[in-house]
Amino acid sequence: MTASNLYLIPCGMILKVENLSVSFGNFKALKDVNLEVQKGEVFCLMGESGSGKSTLLYSILGLIKNANITGSIKFKELELNKLPEESLRRIRGAKISIVFQEPSLYFDPLYKIGTQIEETYIAHFGKSGARERVLKALERVGLQESLKVFHSYPHQLSGGQRQRAFIAMAIVCDPELILADEPTTALDATLQIKILDLFKSFTFEGKSVLIVTHDPEVALAVGDRVAIMKDGQILEEGPVSKVFQNPKHPYTAELLSAL
Ligand SMILES: Nc1ncnc2c1ncn2[C@@H]1O[C@H](COP(=O)(O)OP(=O)(O)OP(=O)(O)O)[C@@H](O)[C@H]1O
Ligand SMILES: [Mg+2]
Repeated sequence: MTASNLYLIPCGMILKVENLSVSFGNFKALKDVNLEVQKGEVFCLMGESGSGKSTLLYSILGLIKNANITGSIKFKELELNKLPEESLRRIRGAKISIVFQEPSLYFDPLYKIGTQIEETYIAHFGKSGARERVLKALERVGLQESLKVFHSYPHQLSGGQRQRAFIAMAIVCDPELILADEPTTALDATLQIKILDLFKSFTFEGKSVLIVTHDPEVALAVGDRVAIMKDGQILEEGPVSKVFQNPKHPYTAELLSAL
């Protein structure tokens, strides 16, 4: 896979996770995880199925309810792990947004795409200017026939268009941090590259992107830095080129052997 991988100088920390542990009953899904995402970078989180990647993303957004969570999750100066639900709701979608692997599961089939994206904007900023913002967001993600897409129902779009529309929903409020959980796994190779390029392009606007993937090619294509996870722990972390060329942990080498 080859997507543009321009060099960016990260400037300042946007997310800092310290000693984060998440337990579901006796099962420890995350064990003392430490992680820092810089402003303007694509940070990739890699690891096998069940290693805790999604749990880490959902913890950042405060979406995990039935678990014992300890440690610190700082978004700039805000301690997310201590914030009441009401404050978290104001951050979700507006400051930190999330993109999932399969948007069809999250778009309601009964409502127009545009209406659903508009709702996200209105929830944070009110109705004024909402329509224009949604159309702009659709165009930003490469859906040039924005008005037509706005009035489409989810099933009327192709898989790639739906994923773009979902990304439009994630950026409509102009968030600073975009979390993406396997955002390209369901797409074919050509589309994958286009969507990854789109994520990369957000960093040129100063946004940060935290992408979860099990695919080393994704990290290679767009990642500035990468963390390797296994059994709820981060085994190693660093610039993609450094970790990939000189893996410190045998598990990382094994994970990369497919490359
Ligand atoms: N709500 C929950 N209750 C109980 N256990 C959970 C819950 N959510 C996740 N787990 C467990 O935590 C572990 C990590 O799950 P997680 O979904 O974070 O893995 P993942 O790395 O995202 O895997 P995949 O690549 O398959 O998406 C798994 O063993 C999973 O069964
Ligand atoms: Mg997952």
